[in-house]
Amino acid sequence: MKLTQRCFGNIAKMLDFYSQFNPSPLSIKQFIDFGLSACERKSFIFLRKELPVRLANIMKEIHLLPENLLRMRSVEIVNDLYATSFEEIILFEKADVNENTLDRFCQALVKIRNRHTDVVQTMAQGVLELKESHDVDVQTENSIQYFLDRFYMSRISIRMLINQHTLLFGGVLDCHNRHIGCIDPYCDVISVVKDAYENARFLCDQYYMASPELVFNQHNEMEQGNETKIVYVPSHLYHMLFELFKNSMRAVMEHCGSDADKYPGLKVTVVRGKEDICVKMSDKGGGIPRSQTDNLFKYMYSTAPQPSKSDAHTVPLAGYGYGLPISRLYARYFHGDLILLSCEGYGTDAIIYLKALSNEANELLPIFNKTSSKFYRALPSNADWSSQCGNSMATRQLPMNQKQGHRLPNGLQATQC
Ligand SMILES: Nc1ncnc2c1ncn2[C@@H]1O[C@H](COP(=O)(O)OP(=O)(O)OP(=O)(O)O)[C@@H](O)[C@H]1O
Ligand SMILES: [Mg+2]
Repeated sequence: MKLTQRCFGNIAKMLDFYSQFNPSPLSIKQFIDFGLSACERKSFIFLRKELPVRLANIMKEIHLLPENLLRMRSVEIVNDLYATSFEEIILFEKADVNENTLDRFCQALVKIRNRHTDVVQTMAQGVLELKESHDVDVQTENSIQYFLDRFYMSRISIRMLINQHTLLFGGVLDCHNRHIGCIDPYCDVISVVKDAYENARFLCDQYYMASPELVFNQHNEMEQGNETKIVYVPSHLYHMLFELFKNSMRAVMEHCGSDADKYPGLKVTVVRGKEDICVKMSDKGGGIPRSQTDNLFKYMYSTAPQPSKSDAHTVPLAGYGYGLPISRLYARYFHGDLILLSCEGYGTDAIIYLKALSNEANELLPIFNKTSSKFYRALPSNADWSSQCGNSMATRQLPMNQKQGHRLPNGLQATQC
């Protein structure tokens, strides 16, 4: 029997049960505090409920997708992966908490993480399959955009939980490493900028035989010590910066042409305010027409030629149209943001906002409830000119709900375990 069918049989009740609960967002501070006291049992007890809750919330939403998208092969594959993982996790629901269970749990998490590695591409493939085989109207397009934001955000959050547990409890602890799981309490924003720049530059050099320089804004030279350090997940910050650098480099190289003597540098400013740490990247890559600004964060919107299948062994500089939307999700995941401001004919500023205080950096999580389905049935297509709702995440991401709250067990709220 296919897993999707099983989903509506055996585990359907469990799905209904777990989807009644709201996910419990954690702040970076809670992740850190918990990591410092590192109690595997408490983590296990929290995760054996929280993971099925997060999985069930998003699986319920998958079922709300338009029928013809659900029938696409790749979407079926994704559906099956989630059903399998959900089943594996709920096996631990009533397990005795002993060494053996804890070991098996860790192994199960690693297996689940590996199983879901390619989910972003597989889901993207499903959307492509739909577009190739059907006429997709604006409303379906909007529902898909809405869903993908929530689906990928849910995935980021589930991976964060799994990574924290497996890094803290699954391997040999490196006592020289200051990281707490995947969080760096002293994440040096400037060095992540340099790292992302170097790797993007490598790609740019491969494509264009040249690349723009990195120029730190004067402001940074006056920055001292901890000013540009932040409690953060370096891999998330790296992801955003790498995508922004690739975009800016491509813009500059295309705008200036291959025979230019000199390419205008990419200016980066890192600054800490009371509320946020901001990273601004400014390029002189010719900017973006204003009529295109609504498309920038749409999945699959790209002005680059689609990378061909024969290029599968090389990493493309651009082409899938996933760079900006996924980067913005990473920024928003801990209540930051990512915006683009552009002057056509001149260049573009991209700004990443990160919460400066770790206790304010709470996870932003999609929640499934009775009202969720209405977003899939009738998304408003004609925005009023005075409407401020260009931003789908802010206005629609977290519908209010009347579900039972899922209380955190003490272990993840308190510093002590
Ligand atoms: N700094 C920039 N200057 C000019 N255009 C930009 C800039 N950043 C983004 N864009 C435009 O936005 C589009 C979408 O960017 P996005 O990063 O999401 O996708 P992509 O770069 O085309 O593909 P990939 O998924 O590989 O990143 C780009 O194709 C480009 O047209
Ligand atoms: Mg890109």
